[in-house]
Amino acid sequence: MNRFRRLRTSPTIRRLVRETILTADDLIQPYFIVEGKNKKQAIASMPGIERLSTDLLLKGLEKFIKSGGQAGLFFGIPTEKDDQASQAYAGNGVVQKGIKSIKRNFPEFLVITDVCLCSYMKHGHCGVMEQGHVHNDKTLELLTKTAVSHAQAGADMVAPSDMMDFRVKAIREGLDQAGLINTSILSYAVKYASSFYGPFRDAADSAPQFGDRKSYQMDYANQREALKEAQQDVVEGADMVMVKPALAYLDIISLLRQKLSVPVVAYSVSGEYSMIKAAAQKGWINEQEVVWESLVAMKRAGADMIITYHAKDVVGIRS
Ligand code: PBG
Repeated sequence: MNRFRRLRTSPTIRRLVRETILTADDLIQPYFIVEGKNKKQAIASMPGIERLSTDLLLKGLEKFIKSGGQAGLFFGIPTEKDDQASQAYAGNGVVQKGIKSIKRNFPEFLVITDVCLCSYMKHGHCGVMEQGHVHNDKTLELLTKTAVSHAQAGADMVAPSDMMDFRVKAIREGLDQAGLINTSILSYAVKYASSFYGPFRDAADSAPQFGDRKSYQMDYANQREALKEAQQDVVEGADMVMVKPALAYLDIISLLRQKLSVPVVAYSVSGEYSMIKAAAQKGWINEQEVVWESLVAMKRAGADMIITYHAKDVVGIRS
């Protein structure tokens, strides 16, 4: 038996025995890119996050980089949607143009792109619709074209978030055939059909026009299935695997960290962000403290890095 309070007596000793350290190196900031110049569109359900045209996005990035930020996850909001998601893989699409100028200005900044079709499809589903169903294998072709076009524009890493089966394999083959052997794949391996994505769908204008995503995203009641998804994605060629959402899924993060040897990424999603923002705006919680505590919890559970909308607010604060 011992007196555990001894190791809590001063800030110095508490820092010495601290098991989990969170730094700016662990954080990835999501960004939403729109067409045009000088465009800044607030997202009502996500205070502090905006959709930005590339010129303004570059200014935001400069600030983020100065405070220690080094990686971003980029989403595009196209002006045109159709049934083939053609703007998702257009050479002059909103993401492709955006990445080119980001890489021109900040070559060291790590650019990860979200590879999905929902924002580019009229119906808002993540793949090709046929007779009311998302057709898995026809979707693979479009996802591969999208990933290759992102990589050709300069993306360092592509992150498929559609949840089609075999998409990691298809994308890896597509990238390799195009000679893009160094573009890595961060798979949204474990993506649950979650109501925590609500605010994001306002931001990316990607809500399904009918039905839901339950036939491709996972049932949040399932844990073993997460391991199967992630193991297979590693076999298919994923360099890193993601768990999404994060805070309500720490058991899944912990499980993957124990069972796999690839880096595990936590995506703390829009709803997690908005809940903290809303409570903080009401004066009910201390925003900075709650954000830090949540992010440390994700790392403690086993996340090697975290995608969070709070990244730009917290990178400069502590390390
Ligand atoms: C696209 C995609 C979504 C998110 C990331 N990529 C939404 C969805 O699947 O409906 C959610 C991100 C967030 O909520 O922050 N498929």
